[in-house]
Amino acid sequence: MLKGLIFDVDGVITDSASYHLAAWRALATKLGIDLPAAADDQLRGRSRMDSLNVILRFGNQLNRYSSAKLNALAAEKNAMYQQLIVQMTPADILPGMLQLLKDARSAKLLLAVASASQNAPRILQQLGLITYFDAIVDPTALHKGKPDPEIYVAAQSLLKLNADEVISFEDASAGVAAIKAAGQFAVGIGDAQVLRAADYIVPDTRQLKLSAISTAFIRQQIASNDCQVD
Ligand code: BG6
Ligand code: MG
Repeated sequence: MLKGLIFDVDGVITDSASYHLAAWRALATKLGIDLPAAADDQLRGRSRMDSLNVILRFGNQLNRYSSAKLNALAAEKNAMYQQLIVQMTPADILPGMLQLLKDARSAKLLLAVASASQNAPRILQQLGLITYFDAIVDPTALHKGKPDPEIYVAAQSLLKLNADEVISFEDASAGVAAIKAAGQFAVGIGDAQVLRAADYIVPDTRQLKLSAISTAFIRQQIASNDCQVD
């Protein structure tokens, strides 16, 4: 039975993913690295240090910097990113998302946040959404980033729910992989090819309707129960 929803933040609740990408691209340019468009999905969902490593790999600069310099580069990106998010307001909630959260609360579902970003609580405050959530995973307490399932397992545990009682929402292939590795039902928001491992895919948040998603979730549970009986 569906009891909870778990949300990524960047690119799911608000378009802060584009601010992350803009800040990473500015840092890459400074390092003389020309990032192809294909880098974008590889940067989505990854922790700050994992993202920096993705960029350095594209520029063949892995192992070039000391750990102190790596920390300084990550801090520089974060400072640029924080300048971009400072102006965010409730008007920046992606279309359909507020209604989805309201419908979920009306349906008495528990809600959690599973964002790799240390800035996510601050963004949720600025959007006026923080009180919607029963739990927020602290990404600094994790051992592994997405696509490892740890963050989604942690969110489910904070809600005291099982994997087959939650639906999780992601815009990144690394995030969908993390949800599936946690054994949860994955809703992918974005490119159907990139997010093809998800159980339910919509091109953007406007198409997120709790009733339709719940129906797909129930259908999949019935189908997998039938398989177990066979
Ligand atoms: C994820 C973003 O949610 O958070 C990534 O998709 C970002 O792009 C990661 O690198 C870490 O964010 P922060 O704010 O802790 O640097
Ligand atoms: Mg995301």
